[in-house]
Amino acid sequence: MKKKSLCALLLTVFLLPAGTLQCLAAPGAKSPKKAILLVAFGTTVPEAQKSYAYIEAEVKKSFPGVETRWAFESGIIRAKLAAEGKVFLSPASALAQLMDEGFTHVAVVSLQTIPGKEFHDLNQNARLFGQMAGGFEGIQVAWPLLSSHEDIKRAAKAMFDNIPAGRKPEDAVVLMGHGNAKHPSDAIYMAMYHAMQEIDPNVFVATVEGYPGMDDILPKLKEKKVRKVYLMPFMAVAGDHALNDMAGDKPQSWKSILGREGFTVEPVLKGTGEYPEIVGIWIDHLREVFNRL
Ligand code: CO
Repeated sequence: MKKKSLCALLLTVFLLPAGTLQCLAAPGAKSPKKAILLVAFGTTVPEAQKSYAYIEAEVKKSFPGVETRWAFESGIIRAKLAAEGKVFLSPASALAQLMDEGFTHVAVVSLQTIPGKEFHDLNQNARLFGQMAGGFEGIQVAWPLLSSHEDIKRAAKAMFDNIPAGRKPEDAVVLMGHGNAKHPSDAIYMAMYHAMQEIDPNVFVATVEGYPGMDDILPKLKEKKVRKVYLMPFMAVAGDHALNDMAGDKPQSWKSILGREGFTVEPVLKGTGEYPEIVGIWIDHLREVFNRL
């Protein structure tokens, strides 16, 4: 009430046309209520949750007092977690819930590594939420980890700095990215490969489902007469792919393939979401869009 009378007074004193002041122009306007939605692929591996917990803590530290929620993209993972009594919403359901609760502005964080299919789906749906009647007044989706040359350079340095201290210069390191052979963004892994090679020619990037794969890296390791190989996940969490495809005992795992070729293999079970310098990149992307809300 007080605010309205002040507006009325200002209008009278300065003879301003009605509508000049926002407080009178939109009497029904909601006061802004902002939220951050963290969107990850999801994982059922309890140990891997460490990454998500760390990311959430860092986001809350950077945006104190802002409501922070989670959504998982994988329906299979949501169903498995629900069977254990852990309910996670899809990005669309989480956005609908924020809308129902009267949030007016949302910054959505894609905790993906590259802007692949998951990111584009998320971006498309978030935009549609922004167009809904009675929907958000502002919604922005932050870029995933690698969305510019600067990001790639920062991520490459961060990964290099987090190689276990016991690694000798003659030991190779292979970062395991996810990859997607059917998406153009898959090429970003090759850019990351190049960035790692610029720092240290014994550090490689390979992917589970894209290019380059382990088949492409193996001849290079042999050529360099490497004897020991460190394997590091290049995914937000050390989840199923890290535990099974990278460090598992099944014959097709990278550990087994390299072991059969005579290499000594040392897997590192840490997701990129556990490295402060990597999480810093996601947070910078979030800050960029949060400031535009
Ligand atoms: Co996968």
